[in-house]
Amino acid sequence: MVIPTQAGDHATWSESRNGCRAIKFPQTVGNHATRIVSVAGIRYVQVYDLGAGQAMPSQFDHDQHELELDWDTDAIVGRRNRYYAASQRAFVPYQQPLIFSKGQDQYLWDEKGNRYLDCLSQNLTISVGYNNPVVTRAVTRQAQTLQHCTTMFFHPMPAHYAEELTRTMPAGEEWVVHLMNSGAEAIDMALLLARCYTGNIDTLSLTNSYHGATFGAQSVTGIGAFRHNVPLLGGIQFVPVPDPYRGIHGACVEPYLDDLDASIHYATSGRLAGMLLEPIQGYGGIIPLPEGYISGALERVHAAGGLLIVDEVQSGMARTGEHFWAFQKHAIVPDIVVAAKGLGNGYPLAAVIVKREIAEAMSSKFYFHTYGANPVNCAAGRAVLHVIEQHMLQQRAREVGGALLAVLEELQTRHPVIGAVRGRGMMMAIELVKNRDSREPDPETMLRLFEKTREFGLVASKSGAYRNVLRICPPLCMQMDDVSFFADAINKSFDSL
Ligand SMILES: Cc1ncc(COP(=O)(O)O)c(C=O)c1O
Repeated sequence: MVIPTQAGDHATWSESRNGCRAIKFPQTVGNHATRIVSVAGIRYVQVYDLGAGQAMPSQFDHDQHELELDWDTDAIVGRRNRYYAASQRAFVPYQQPLIFSKGQDQYLWDEKGNRYLDCLSQNLTISVGYNNPVVTRAVTRQAQTLQHCTTMFFHPMPAHYAEELTRTMPAGEEWVVHLMNSGAEAIDMALLLARCYTGNIDTLSLTNSYHGATFGAQSVTGIGAFRHNVPLLGGIQFVPVPDPYRGIHGACVEPYLDDLDASIHYATSGRLAGMLLEPIQGYGGIIPLPEGYISGALERVHAAGGLLIVDEVQSGMARTGEHFWAFQKHAIVPDIVVAAKGLGNGYPLAAVIVKREIAEAMSSKFYFHTYGANPVNCAAGRAVLHVIEQHMLQQRAREVGGALLAVLEELQTRHPVIGAVRGRGMMMAIELVKNRDSREPDPETMLRLFEKTREFGLVASKSGAYRNVLRICPPLCMQMDDVSFFADAINKSFDSL
């Protein structure tokens, strides 16, 4: 109930001793409370009921201000060009801007109302679908009660989330979690942990890897296009990625492990802080590491005193359809797992999941970041875990992903420009080449194909160190019914090249 203060029947103003004006009511009403609000210079008395668990309204409830949005293409582009820094402006995939106005489940709509089947998930971030009602409800409820509570204080939401996240990890270890906001931030943390715990500096990473944009994450990123021309972290050595299609030793695992031995022997002190790897390289072009490599690497890294850090930022969260985490296919137990993206379904949430004993290495130093363990993001994270489990999205990723892969494999039989088709679950790629024998990358055809896929209603991504790979990574909630639309769109895209 809102009563303008001018309505003297209900209330009167009086000056208090310190000069503030107070409100006087003719009678006190049992379970009601009042507050004075000021809107556009007019003061009101707000009367509210405190009974039956009613939330206290805000002093700003009267302000029904709506944020204006100018959907005009030129206006959006103009504002970006004028106000975004070059670093945030430069990375755009299509020749003409693609403006999204809404998303639901696996679909996106542009501002003109055209619908797209999303095969990119905002760079593998939308795991359980746009506007997933379970996630939206969890986030809204938490935002309506408390939108932030730093880790200096206590709140049950992040604590529940940490517990639930550790349940996804292999049994037999005591896992703990450090919650953060972005993948790169979590990679930095993992590097720091490894160095603190082992007391060693040298760290190995794979060529063709992508781990993020911060100083630390760039330093372990093995694609030159993502590395700035500045002194990055020292003590990082790159070893050749065991890419069966394009790797220097082809599909044979042993020579890559020999390279690893050689790097430890020649290029490091012999004592390692650790090795970082993506079980399926993401931006590198969806390269699943072959069987035997990760277990072989783990053995060698442990023997040199280091830790195995697995970057599951793209490949985790049931995306491969086979396991919750992609490393599980390799029957190994890593020391540290880095996760982000799909954890929060679009809300900024990342985690370093680590064996307790290792995490203890950082107990004596101050390591605080303002938005770690944000309860709204953790509410999203909990809802995501719930949806994946309750709606069996891992199984869906396996089945629907398998059907999409079959479409791509069939396409390869008819289009010689497709040199390779690969992937697992909702993480697939096709690689374009000028010649199947020489495997020379074909980024020019990829550019044209990519524009066509948009025209026929798909959102995908071009990636790989040579920009010749079409990455297809839909939300885990894509359905079998979508496969025929996908097949039609991708076929038309190739046919119209
Ligand atoms: C495998 C991998 N690791 C780390 C990152 C960095 O994550 P963020 O962009 O959230 O910092 C990314 C981002 O794409 C990634 O793909």
